[in-house]
Amino acid sequence: MIVLGLESSCDETAAALVTGDRRVLAHKLAGQEAAHAPYGGVVPEIAARAHVEMLEPLVRAALDEAGVKLAQVDAVAATAGPGLIGGVMVGLVTGKALAHAAGKPLVAVNHLEGHALSPRLSNPELRFPYLLLLVSGGHCQLLRVDGVGRYRRLATTIDDAAGEAFDKTAKVLGLGFPGGPAVERAAEAGDPFAVPLPRPLKGAAEPHFSFAGLKSAVVRAAGQHRTEDLAASFQQAVVECLLDRTERALASSDGVTALVVAGGVAANKAIRARLEALAAEYDLPFVAPPLWLCTDNAAMIAWAGAERFAAGLVDPLDTPAKARWPL
Ligand code: KG4
Ligand code: ZN
Repeated sequence: MIVLGLESSCDETAAALVTGDRRVLAHKLAGQEAAHAPYGGVVPEIAARAHVEMLEPLVRAALDEAGVKLAQVDAVAATAGPGLIGGVMVGLVTGKALAHAAGKPLVAVNHLEGHALSPRLSNPELRFPYLLLLVSGGHCQLLRVDGVGRYRRLATTIDDAAGEAFDKTAKVLGLGFPGGPAVERAAEAGDPFAVPLPRPLKGAAEPHFSFAGLKSAVVRAAGQHRTEDLAASFQQAVVECLLDRTERALASSDGVTALVVAGGVAANKAIRARLEALAAEYDLPFVAPPLWLCTDNAAMIAWAGAERFAAGLVDPLDTPAKARWPL
């Protein structure tokens, strides 16, 4: 089984071909960092126009690289939300057109489901149910993944996502965009305990996340400390919040077989290392997909499409694009 996947919900345009037995035949990606960098964040209109320009050439390149013709594809999977609606519409309409032209079914994939199932593409031994910490620029959630299409949200952020806080911190510290990798680099040369910063909701009974207060504290502290110390102290606060909330969810999740992390922030080495140690405390394997699969890409959409297609889940061609779509 071969599935073509399309991703366009934020600032990454991507197309990939993945097989039902976990082979990534091709994955193509075009970032838009340069286009958004002058604004210090993603501009939805610029993103949507870039998706229009880039998606078709990426689909062609993926098919060429894989040596696969559109007619050989068994299903077309496209992100149908949540995300910036202009971009989501570009990818979903393209997916519908390709599915219709090829006479193959469409699978409308929730972007979060793409992240949630991506560890099963890289780690064949991963079994349901698992506890997933999904940390990206748009999301910060703890999900119990019981099966394909069976997700229980145990926690979410009550304000900002962790990645958003990284991006804002980088902007305030003049480290550029995207912020996560820049803050991580600066933090390596800093003292994580130099600047006292809040740990919002740490220790709270509900397992939710909050990063707005931390973000504001960084804004107030900017200019009064070394950039490296502020970056390291900020990262330390995020690590502690993520760890505390994840541990609370782990302690109350019966029967999970692994602790899994996905989403762009999972690229952070300090966060990975602490989560790995936490999993070991609970005698659970720790699973983190390779970095290219953690950040937005189309292979995870193709894979989620393959899992849904195998379970008989396909969607009509009038499926709407959704800006908001909780799992
Ligand atoms: O999953 P992703 O590519 O896109 C969304 O769906 O949001 O995640 C992007 C986010 C950005 O906020 C970026 O700053 C953050 O992931 N990120 C990192 C690192 N690499 C990317 N955050 C912390 N440390 C990193 N090394
Ligand atoms: Zn994402």
